[in-house]
Amino acid sequence: MRNFVFHNPTKIIFGKGTVGQIGDEIKKYGVEKVLLLYGRGSIKRNGVYDSITSSLERNGISWVEVSGVKPNPVLSKVHEAIKVARREKVQAILAAGGGSVIDSAKAIAAGYYYSGDIWDAFLGKYKVDKALPIFTVLTISATGSEMNGGAVVTDEKTGLKLSFGSKATYPKVSIIDPTVQFTLPKEQTVYGAVDAIVHVLEYYFDGSKDRWLMDRVMESIIKTIMESAEILVNEPTNYEARANLAWSATLALNGLTSTGSFGGDWSSHYIEHALSAIYDIPHGAGLAIVTPAWMRYVMEEDIDKFRRFAKEIFGEEDPEKGIEAFKSWLKNIGAPVSLKDAGIPEKDIDKIAENAAFEAPFGTLKRLELEDIKKVLEIAAI
Ligand code: NZQ
Ligand code: ZN
Repeated sequence: MRNFVFHNPTKIIFGKGTVGQIGDEIKKYGVEKVLLLYGRGSIKRNGVYDSITSSLERNGISWVEVSGVKPNPVLSKVHEAIKVARREKVQAILAAGGGSVIDSAKAIAAGYYYSGDIWDAFLGKYKVDKALPIFTVLTISATGSEMNGGAVVTDEKTGLKLSFGSKATYPKVSIIDPTVQFTLPKEQTVYGAVDAIVHVLEYYFDGSKDRWLMDRVMESIIKTIMESAEILVNEPTNYEARANLAWSATLALNGLTSTGSFGGDWSSHYIEHALSAIYDIPHGAGLAIVTPAWMRYVMEEDIDKFRRFAKEIFGEEDPEKGIEAFKSWLKNIGAPVSLKDAGIPEKDIDKIAENAAFEAPFGTLKRLELEDIKKVLEIAAI
């Protein structure tokens, strides 16, 4: 096990009927005016917007709104909201939504204090060390963004989807009320589950050894997500399945599964970000296409770990059968498992690989260069 520092400063309030506590939590920070950021309207249809705004009113907190954050959020929206935040002199950002809204909130909170273009943070030209306080009401469990400092945004001009991470952009408080996820479309539940599983796999297969405790924790998280997702595709309002999936997804990427590791491999994520940047497909769908192909490509680098995965998760002895079983599970639950399934032609492989290679070489289990990325995509083709 490697040395590590584990320090997660985000306070989580978890459970049924907790959304209305958001105003009380924000008030504890002495905040009187927030920027309320949300997506394309699901919070208005499922009552989350009303619970939030009445909680703000009850606590004497005023707000200004920016809405319309799209899945695979874009830089122009971040720029627009930074202008509003400055003009309205807000003291905090309140993000109500999923990873797209929360990630945008982080870029806005950091951009508020930065005199240049906040895209510099994504390009690694500016190290974020200051941000407005961020509060979140999570409405879809997937990214773990509610309890980490990472943000992923696409610059529409260059077509690059990049990330930054900072201690300054951990949310102060996140509310996770699984009941608000009852209204999720089936495919969004599935993509969220896939994303969370792959976050665990990034750490599970990063080449690190002797993380006995974490290996078992990670296997438990994966199995719990699978079990919950299988229930939710038929019973979207099953509270225990929603709750177990939600907490698993948060723990998958809040620093816990990273402890003692090499920091995660992240190749599947880098390659996927090119897919969702170019084709605007959901992140979890892209991961279902890329990850089994990446597993095949790198399997020999740590065959014992792939054997263990096959045995522990699917009861298979053969490592290759474990990957096959994972791919079948993804397909059966409703995710695309090839470029073809997502309607992406094989002739686009060079273009996708070049986009992904902007950040290459990457990967800790196997270092991937442009040619490796192409090979992974070829495996993912059909
Ligand atoms: O726009 P609205 O109306 O909010 O609808 C959303 C959106 O269409 C809908 N939705 C959310 N909660 C709902 C709901 N619909 C009905 N009922 C609810 N309760 O779901 C759709 C997807 O939302 P989105 O926020 O895009 O989903 P997700 O949380 O999966 O976020 C994906 C983004 O996060 C990035 C991804 O790349 C992608 O851009 N990631 C962020 C990470 C991080 N910050 O740590 C790590 C991840 O690996 C990932 O890259
Ligand atoms: Zn992800």
